[in-house]
Amino acid sequence: MIVIFGGTAAYHLKVENFATVGEPRLVQTPFGESPPFVRLTVDGRSVWFNSRHGEGGLQRSAAFVNHRANVWAAKELGAEAILSWNGVGAVAAGLSVGQCVVPDDVLDMTRARLSATFAERALLTPAGSPFADDWRKKLIDACERLNLPCATHGTYVCTEGPRLETVAEISMYGWGGAAVVGMTLAPEIWLAAELGIPYASLCIITNMATGRWHFDTRRDFGVGVAEKGIRVMLDVV
Ligand code: HPA
Repeated sequence: MIVIFGGTAAYHLKVENFATVGEPRLVQTPFGESPPFVRLTVDGRSVWFNSRHGEGGLQRSAAFVNHRANVWAAKELGAEAILSWNGVGAVAAGLSVGQCVVPDDVLDMTRARLSATFAERALLTPAGSPFADDWRKKLIDACERLNLPCATHGTYVCTEGPRLETVAEISMYGWGGAAVVGMTLAPEIWLAAELGIPYASLCIITNMATGRWHFDTRRDFGVGVAEKGIRVMLDVV
């Protein structure tokens, strides 16, 4: 079964408007009890859904998400793949608020995430292609079916947060090839790789990154972001 990690505004989403909702399930993991996963069923097909930042409201900002418990729980629930949506700022020119990007590479600039690995002693996880291309394609195809503008490639730079970036930092990431910036992809994607779970992300642009505002001044962190995310993910499965 697929596990969906909902990002921006997932905690405001009324999932019952999109699927039949089962009882929440908390999973005991070596890293503590997971937050609730709910089973969503549409046309006889089910997924597990978890709101990364909390239930009913924003309870955990990016750096405080217990990624190890989440990803471990996903494995316990039998995840054949993890799909996530991530609200992001746009770094590259040509992108606009509301647009989707399915990234194909990561620039990991996090530096103090406690839950960065399952292997505290030693592990060299290959990071050459962290995204699963077949699942990326399914997300891209779903965007096309739903008529949602979607960039089919791009590098996601993950910053530590919770502060936003400076103009200089975004300039540097832009030179480094970043298309979008967010705070949640790492270490989730590395943990999934350690457990052998294919991973793909649908990035939804909520704002232009710092200093890029002349391209588009809008900011949209509303529930519409989450509605877009869940519609795409449920269309995939
Ligand atoms: N920077 C970092 N993370 C983000 C942004 C941003 O501009 N927008 C949404 N998540």
